[in-house]
Amino acid sequence: MSLSRRSLLTAAAVRPALTAAAVKPLVALNKGLVYMNAANIAPCGKAALDEYLKQLADFQQNPAFQNREIYKPLSESVRSKLAALLGAAPDEIALTRNSSESNNLIAQGLRLKPGDEILLTAHNHPSNTQSWQLRAQQAGATVVVADVPIYAKSPDELLATLQKKVTPKTRVIAVSHLTNTTGLLYPIAAIADLAHQANAWCHVDGAQTFGWMNLHLPNLRIDSFSGSFHKWPMGPLESGMLYVKAARLPELTPAILSIDYWADKPTGARKFETLGQRDDPKLRGLEKTIDFLASTGMAQIEARALALSNRFRSGLAAIPTVALKGSGHPSVSGPVVKVHLPNQDLATVYNRLWTQHRIAIAKTDSGDAAGLRFSPHIYNTEAEIDLVLRALRA
Ligand SMILES: Cc1ncc(COP(=O)(O)O)c(C=O)c1O
Repeated sequence: MSLSRRSLLTAAAVRPALTAAAVKPLVALNKGLVYMNAANIAPCGKAALDEYLKQLADFQQNPAFQNREIYKPLSESVRSKLAALLGAAPDEIALTRNSSESNNLIAQGLRLKPGDEILLTAHNHPSNTQSWQLRAQQAGATVVVADVPIYAKSPDELLATLQKKVTPKTRVIAVSHLTNTTGLLYPIAAIADLAHQANAWCHVDGAQTFGWMNLHLPNLRIDSFSGSFHKWPMGPLESGMLYVKAARLPELTPAILSIDYWADKPTGARKFETLGQRDDPKLRGLEKTIDFLASTGMAQIEARALALSNRFRSGLAAIPTVALKGSGHPSVSGPVVKVHLPNQDLATVYNRLWTQHRIAIAKTDSGDAAGLRFSPHIYNTEAEIDLVLRALRA
C-alpha cells in the first residue's frame, strides 16, 4: 500500500463521521434554537471558544510584553495552518478582521487610473461594491455592473453575463464566489481566466464559501480571495482572512499603516496586518477552528453542508405555497437557500418562524432577492430541516 493511501486510511479511521449527533455537541447553541443563518454568523465551535477565552484571561491577567512573546510565533503557526488548508503558501495569507476589511484592502490596494473599468455583479456584497465605487471615484475609474440571472441553470450562463461586459479597459473583475442574496455559485476559475485574458485582476469575495467548501485556492486561478472566520468556518467573531497570489503581491499597497511598517518591512501578505493592536488571544481560537476543519476534512464538511441544503430544497419542492428564489440547480448552488412566498406577507412568516418555532434565519424585504434566507450548516440536524419544512408548510 502506498504511503499516501495508508495515511489517507489512517486519517479516515480517526475522523468521526460527520453526523448530526457528532457535530451538534461541538457548538453551544441554546437548546431548541433552530439556527440556520451561517451565511451571516455561525456559532463558534465550543473548543475554539474555550481556548480563546482561556487565552484572553491569561492575557488580561498579565499583559506584560514578556507574556505576549508567544503571539508572533502563534500568528505564524495559524497562518501556516490556514495556508495548508487552502493549498496556499503562508506568505499569501493575511489574518484580517473580516471579509469586509479584506475586500476593502484589495479595492484600496490596487493602482488604478482614469478610464479603467471595474467589473462587478449586481449581487456583490456592499463591501465588494461600495469599496470599488469609492476607489473608482478616487481614481477616475468607472464601475460596470453585470446582471445576475438568478434562475441560471449552468455556470456558463453566469460566465456569459460577465463576458458581455468585459472591454479593453477592464482592469478588475470582483465577484462573490457564492452570492449571499440568492445563493448562486459563480464559476470562479473560468472568471479568473476571463479576467487574465483581459489583463485584469480577479478578486473573489469568498465570504459564502470559505469554511464549508473544499477549497484549493490555486485551482481557482484567482488573484485574491477574502473570507470571514465567524461565518461558515465556525470561528471567533471579528476574524477574517485575505489571500493574495504571491506573484501579484507587489502590485498592492496596504491601505492601513501602523507602527513598524517601514522599519519591519513585513513580508508577503503580512503587509496587510499592520492594523495596530490586535486581539492576539483570538489566535488560539483561530488555531482550534482551523484544526477542527482540517481534522474533520473539508471534503466531509462540504458533503454534509450540501446534503442538508439539498434535503431542504427537495422538501421545498413539495410545498405548493413556497418557491425557491433563485436557481437551485446543483451546478450553481451551495448551502444558501432563498425562499419566496407568493401571496404571503414575508415579515409575518419570518416572525412566526421565530416566535412559534425558534427558527433563526435572515430576511430580504425587497428587490429581486426578496425572501427568506436559510443557510443550514453541519451542526444542523436532518430533524431540524424537516421541522423547518413542516413549519413552512403550516
Ligand atoms: C458575500 C459577502 N461578502 C462579505 C460579507 C461581509 O462579511 P463580514 O461582515 O464578515 O465582513 C458578507 C456578509 O454577509 C457576505 O455575504
